[in-house]
Amino acid sequence: MRGQIKRTADTDRFSRWKRTGVTSAAMATTTVARGSADAGSKAKRKAPFPVEFYRSALGKKYVMALTGIMLMGFVFAHMVGNLKMYLGAEDINHYGEFLRELLVPILPRTVFLWLLRGGLITAFALHIHAAYSLTRMNHAARTVGYQAKRDYIAANFASRTMRWTGVIFALFLVWHLFDLSWTGTGATWVRGQAYQNIDNSLSRVPVALLYIVANLALGIHLFHGAWSLFQSMGWNNPRFNPMRRNFAAGFAGLIVLGNVSFPIAVLAGIVGN
Ligand code: HEM
Repeated sequence: MRGQIKRTADTDRFSRWKRTGVTSAAMATTTVARGSADAGSKAKRKAPFPVEFYRSALGKKYVMALTGIMLMGFVFAHMVGNLKMYLGAEDINHYGEFLRELLVPILPRTVFLWLLRGGLITAFALHIHAAYSLTRMNHAARTVGYQAKRDYIAANFASRTMRWTGVIFALFLVWHLFDLSWTGTGATWVRGQAYQNIDNSLSRVPVALLYIVANLALGIHLFHGAWSLFQSMGWNNPRFNPMRRNFAAGFAGLIVLGNVSFPIAVLAGIVGN
């Protein structure tokens, strides 16, 4: 019921946005500045369509959802690629080399990988920017806080912690890139030797625990993200809700299971030297 009301509100906003081309921010500005506008100041020049759309709350929700889908694709592919750990050093190191050699000789070595990285970085940046500015818009719109504790509890744990799980994971990600991709973080690290690098780094108990905690945070974030992306795109029908929930739980569970298995397997001596 709540979802239906939300969808209707979004759909209405989209039609109004299409008809008038006025963004929420512009509407707010118009209200505040009506006095001076009436006094004859020139109307603000419209930016190109994608920029205008992104300025609206609906546009930001679409960007969150689309970049979220791209990031989910990466997280899934990365986890599946890392499963090669269980096949041995040669397999996973060969896989790393394969990624660097993608589309050779059409393109020079690593060029396609850099294009993929560029797409990933752009998706990350847009995802974070849209989340940040949506939160600001929501705060600006909610002049009065939640009236009752009940309203607050109505949102589930995953949705209330989105910001924190996102921030925790983003901080971990920077550390992870130093740890396994860029320089190493104290343990022996050799460029291109993924198997040995994972083994050397995750043999350290605090580091293994960090990977476990960060991936649990990622799982909670993914669960709510995968659930709500359908709503953001307007694909929300009570008949499909059980399917949405199963998909979100299945996807998040699969990623957590795979990613948490690596530090555990290293500590247990199942993989590694
Ligand atoms: C326990 C789980 C994980 C393990 C064992 C792992 C392992 C690795 C390794 C070995 C590399 C370096 C690859 C190379 O340079 O050859 C890497 C890079 C990377 N990882 Fe992870 N990873 C894990 C989880 C994640 C997660 C959840 C993300 C989420 C976004 C992630 C994002 C990245 C990124 C963006 C890179 C850089 C890729 C590149 O430079 O092309 N990793 N990871």
